[in-house]
Parts: sequence; structure tokens; C-alpha cells
Amino acid sequence: MTQFRTFILALTASFGLPWLCLIVVPAVKYQALSPLPYDKEADGMDGYYPPAPINRQGQLVYAREGCAQCHTQMIRPPQIALDGWRKGWGQDQEGRPPEPVRSNELRDYHGEKFAFLGIQRSGPDLANYGWRVADRNAVHQKLFAPRSIHDWSTMPPLRHLYTVRLAQGQPSEKALKLTGKHAPKPGYEVVPTEDADALVDYLLSLKKDYPIPGRAAAMAAAAK
Ligand code: HEC
Repeated sequence: MTQFRTFILALTASFGLPWLCLIVVPAVKYQALSPLPYDKEADGMDGYYPPAPINRQGQLVYAREGCAQCHTQMIRPPQIALDGWRKGWGQDQEGRPPEPVRSNELRDYHGEKFAFLGIQRSGPDLANYGWRVADRNAVHQKLFAPRSIHDWSTMPPLRHLYTVRLAQGQPSEKALKLTGKHAPKPGYEVVPTEDADALVDYLLSLKKDYPIPGRAAAMAAAAK
């Protein structure tokens, strides 16, 4: 009987402890988070961290389309894994901004109902994608025809999020600027649906490496 009791206790401990430490404690901590204010003197900036919520409507499209199958939104600290954060990691090689990114923290995901950390990294990490692009038409072009930007791309085109329609009168302001074999037939134009627009708003809102209050000055110095 004692053996049986020890067995049950050991079983409960070996499943219960990881459940407590890996699921319950982080979930409670995450739910209790609130934005942190910057200190104008120490941090050199005003406002709150994180400064802006992500676009929720677009995040739903991101979830539905399974983008997290190939893209992560999580830059690990260097001490945790062999392929952890290094300067310049997690950025597209072409549009690399001069400032390096930092590894992610819990508060970076504040306000998100689900944090899309991702399943595998087939494509680039998107945690800071919002910094890498300025032009929304270029993001639409990437989603509609990934190979119009990189001809080797293995990313699936998201044609179902766009409408190909007869261009009447002036071409729409929103029409994608596609050229060559990716362009629609003459007289036609490709315009984003509401879902595609929300998805792009979401991608542009991904800026998960704002300075952290209390550490802004140290981070700026480390970035030099
Ligand atoms: C089958 C895997 C796969 C899926 C699913 C996928 N992607 Fe990609 N994605 C890639 C690969 C590989 C690249 C890198 C090559 C390239 O730039 O096309 C990429 C590149 C990108 C880029 C450019 C990143 C950069 O730093 O320039 C964006 C933005 C992007 N994907 C968004 C999405 C979104 C949004 C979805 C979901 C609707 C999605 N991807 C689904 C594989 C995938």
C-alpha cells in the first residue's frame, strides 16, 4: 500500500510540478501584467511600455491562416539556447535596421489574448517585423505573391485574401503594384480584402523590442 501511495505521489509530483511551473505560474503572471511607465529622466522617454496594442482583428487572420506554423515571434535570450539572440538575428538580411534587436520578455506580449510564439522557424522571426517595412503595399505584395520579392521563396501565396477585379476608371489606390509574371491580366487589378488589410495592420504593429523602463539607457548603450 505504501508503495502504491508513493507511486501516486511521485506521479502527481512529476506531472503536477511542471504543470504548475510551466503553465499556471506564467499564466497568472501574464494575466496580472500592466503597462509600465517610462521615467523621463532615467529612460529619456515618456509614455508607457508597451506603447501600443497589436491589431487584434489581424491577429485572428494570422491565427486562422496558420502563419505560426512557419514564423516565430520570439527571440530567445542568448543564455537559454545555442541559437539564441545575437546581434542582427531575427531580421531580414536586406532591410536590416542599424539598431540590433533584443530578446523578448513577457511584457512584450501584453494585451495579446494568445502569444503567437510560433511552432518552427521556417521563415524569419516576425517579432519586430513592424520596424522592417514602411510601405504597406510592399507587405501586401509579399503576401499575395511571395516570389515577386524573393524568387526562391517557399512561403505559400495568400491569393484567397485578395480580389482580382476588372479595373474601372482610375485604378484603386489600394491596388497592388505587381510587375512581370505576377501582374494581373491587362485591365485587371488586385485589391486586398478586409482580412488582408487587417493582417497587414497586425504585421506592421509587431514591434516587440521597445526599450524596457528602467533599462532603456543601458540598452541604448549596448546597442552602440
Ligand atoms: C510554409 C511556411 C510558411 C507559411 C505558412 C507562412 N510563411 Fe511567411 N515566410 C516563409 C518563408 C520561408 C519566408 C522567407 C522567404 C521570403 O521572404 O519569402 C517568409 C517570409 C515572410 C515575410 C517577410 C519577412 C521579412 O522579414 O521580410 C512575411 C511578412 C511573412 N512571411 C508573413 C507571413 C504571414 C502573415 C503568414 C500567414 C498568413 C505566413 N507568412 C505564412 C514561410 C512561410
